[in-house]
Amino acid sequence: MFCQGGIPVTGRGVGEGQGRDCGSVVRHIRAVFDRAAAGYDREPLRIFAFAADRLIGHAGIKPGHKVLDVATGTGVVAVSAAQVVGPAGRVTAIDVSERMLDRTQEKLARLGVTNVDVHLMDAGALEFRAGYFDAVVCSHALELLPDMEDAVQGWVRVLRPGGVLAFSSFGAGAFEPMLGMLMRRIARRMTSGAGPVFAIGPHRLAVPQRCQQLLQGAGLDDRRVVEEALGYHLRDASEWWEVIMGSGLRELPDQLDPAAVEAVRDEHLAELAAIMNENGLWLDGRTLFAVARRT
Ligand SMILES: C[S@@+](CC[C@H](N)C(=O)[O-])C[C@H]1O[C@@H](n2cnc3c(N)ncnc32)[C@H](O)[C@@H]1O
Repeated sequence: MFCQGGIPVTGRGVGEGQGRDCGSVVRHIRAVFDRAAAGYDREPLRIFAFAADRLIGHAGIKPGHKVLDVATGTGVVAVSAAQVVGPAGRVTAIDVSERMLDRTQEKLARLGVTNVDVHLMDAGALEFRAGYFDAVVCSHALELLPDMEDAVQGWVRVLRPGGVLAFSSFGAGAFEPMLGMLMRRIARRMTSGAGPVFAIGPHRLAVPQRCQQLLQGAGLDDRRVVEEALGYHLRDASEWWEVIMGSGLRELPDQLDPAAVEAVRDEHLAELAAIMNENGLWLDGRTLFAVARRT
């Protein structure tokens, strides 16, 4: 176990109080997404919107449901869920990044969606009543939490008996071969020679067995994990750079100084010509969907 408990965001700073290692990881991830927020809703990153709709479908959300969207980001899952639950239902959306939540609020206002409440809160330390929600959903974020087991147990606590928990994560091979090429390019520019690292692994939930383990460990029933071959063609290499800088992947180039980032960008985008075809550049967004029910 990486660390104990979660880190409340509301009231005091992230990471203050408990589990110093947990706190520094959450602070680090929050800063990454604060920087990514401005680019997150750009068209090349539509993988998140596609996965959100699929997750809501897998979760079997119904009109009138009370849904918690954990790590909502810019609210793609929350907006999708809001359409399904309708005016009789309600969606609660939480995230640790204020900049991502700013975009959620703007989006909700722009789209006229009024059945979503937004809170700054750590996914590892929910501050909701036990047994309140009909569904808890989380898209592409559970793998960013320092203690995934503890977080999932906290999510189950706020689910009513019979309620559904559903999460998604990228499968093994997502973003390849571009991601591997990018990492090698960055490594060549790093003075340490060690290569770029993610503070917390985006691949921690890339295999179905690990997702199953989490559901089982939380005592959930009717467990199923399916992988779907989501993806699409990016028009050109510069769209892939938008994906990097508008998502958590930017944690890698952010480890370089700005001049080196520019050099890596130019070298990396040029090398992608070798893997483009007449449709463009395939963005592999294969995603695992894990769904289970509280007894
Ligand atoms: C890849 S984005 C996914 C956002 C959204 N669920 C979607 O599918 O578009 C990951 C999100 O997780 C959030 N996040 C990471 N760690 C968190 C934590 N401990 N508590 C709450 N949110 C967290 C980030 O701020 C970011 O908005």
